[in-house]
Amino acid sequence: MGTEAGEIHRGLKGVYFDTSEASFIDGSLGKLLYRGYNIHDLAEQSTFEEVTYLLLYGHLPTERELETLDSSLRDNRGLPEEVVDIIRLIKNCHPMDVLRTGISALSAFDPEAEDKSIDATRRKGIRLTSQAVSIVTAHHRIRQGLEPVNADPSLNHAGNFLYMLTGQKPMDQETNLMDVDFILHSEHGSNASAFAARVTASTLSDLHSAVVTGVGTLKGPLHGGAAESVMKMAQDIGDPANAENYARTTIENGERIMGFGHRVYRAEDPRARHLRERARVLGEQKGEPHWFQILMSLQEVMKPYQNKGIYVNVDFFAGAVYHLLGIPEDLFIPIFALGRIPGWTLQCMEQYENNVLIRPLTQYTGEMDLEYIAIDKRE
Ligand code: SDX
Repeated sequence: MGTEAGEIHRGLKGVYFDTSEASFIDGSLGKLLYRGYNIHDLAEQSTFEEVTYLLLYGHLPTERELETLDSSLRDNRGLPEEVVDIIRLIKNCHPMDVLRTGISALSAFDPEAEDKSIDATRRKGIRLTSQAVSIVTAHHRIRQGLEPVNADPSLNHAGNFLYMLTGQKPMDQETNLMDVDFILHSEHGSNASAFAARVTASTLSDLHSAVVTGVGTLKGPLHGGAAESVMKMAQDIGDPANAENYARTTIENGERIMGFGHRVYRAEDPRARHLRERARVLGEQKGEPHWFQILMSLQEVMKPYQNKGIYVNVDFFAGAVYHLLGIPEDLFIPIFALGRIPGWTLQCMEQYENNVLIRPLTQYTGEMDLEYIAIDKRE
């Protein structure tokens, strides 16, 4: 049966399919570099705007270069009225489906939609980085029966996300928290959604189509959906004392503890620490310390699994941070997507620059050379 084949790598585990200058990940050390810069330096000293520039241009910007990028982001915080109308039509859908649909619709209004040049791809990625925030925030307002909030030019990218979501100007600390979160989610090598986007780009399809692929792929609970699942898990656990029993029962049922484990990291995900302390402080300030306490008790209970390389990942504390910021759970995955648009764009730029169609094989294990029987002869 079937045909001879080479070794099969299910899930493409451990398979290198190309080279990349986007990010370096050492899974055993728990090390992450974006374009050569350590995530710890970027998370604590940079801004999402600066990291977006670094990812898309390959070097840290001068002040003037950063101003140019920032004004591009500011110039694209609005949406074509037709796209807002589409959002109104599908206002009861999951925000990830609205984001996916909104990005798809935006291609009809982007004069460079079919231009696959690197410069045009970069410009479209910058536009989409801003427009995606407008899609998510406009939808959240419309589904509450409210009108979308126009961006405030005095606020940065992260601050405008919170302002356009709630209509309230965020505190500096909340803006900084979202800025760090967007930095931590902006790029991570050939993760499932980035790989999917690259497959789309490798057929020489356009960036909007590739980003739509990325959004659809990120939605799954094994990938971008974890932060939403972590918060639901924390609510199910309810009290730090229940963490041990919850973890044991979940694993005994063959299920996964959300926010733990990673295809590449066999040490703690270096991004997690940048939200852990912030989640603790925010919980204290909001008078809701118990979410952080529940997560820390779960992390303690999961310690024995560290010898299997299972540690917290970037999504473990993210859900608690979003919840404490008053963000509804179904917006947690869209927030991940908003941060990841520069990364998806960079991955597509790399694919276009030295393209080869991505088309792996499957080993056929079905029947061979069967005789065709006319329908009136079949039993
Ligand atoms: C992201 O790839 C990226 O870079 C993704 C990401 C990015 O920035 O783009 O980092 C973002 O997606 C983070 C991951 C978010 N997902 C979750 O938190 C969901 C829970 N995690 C698991 O589903 C799992 O860890 C995966 C999917 C993330 C990775 O799984 P793998 O690499 O396919 O490994 P596996 O499922 O084969 O597990 C290997 C072993 C198994 O034990 P055995 O069957 O060999 O005895 O580890 C165990 C698993 O049971 N295991 C877990 C576990 N994760 C793995 N056991 C309990 N809880 C978990 N979370």
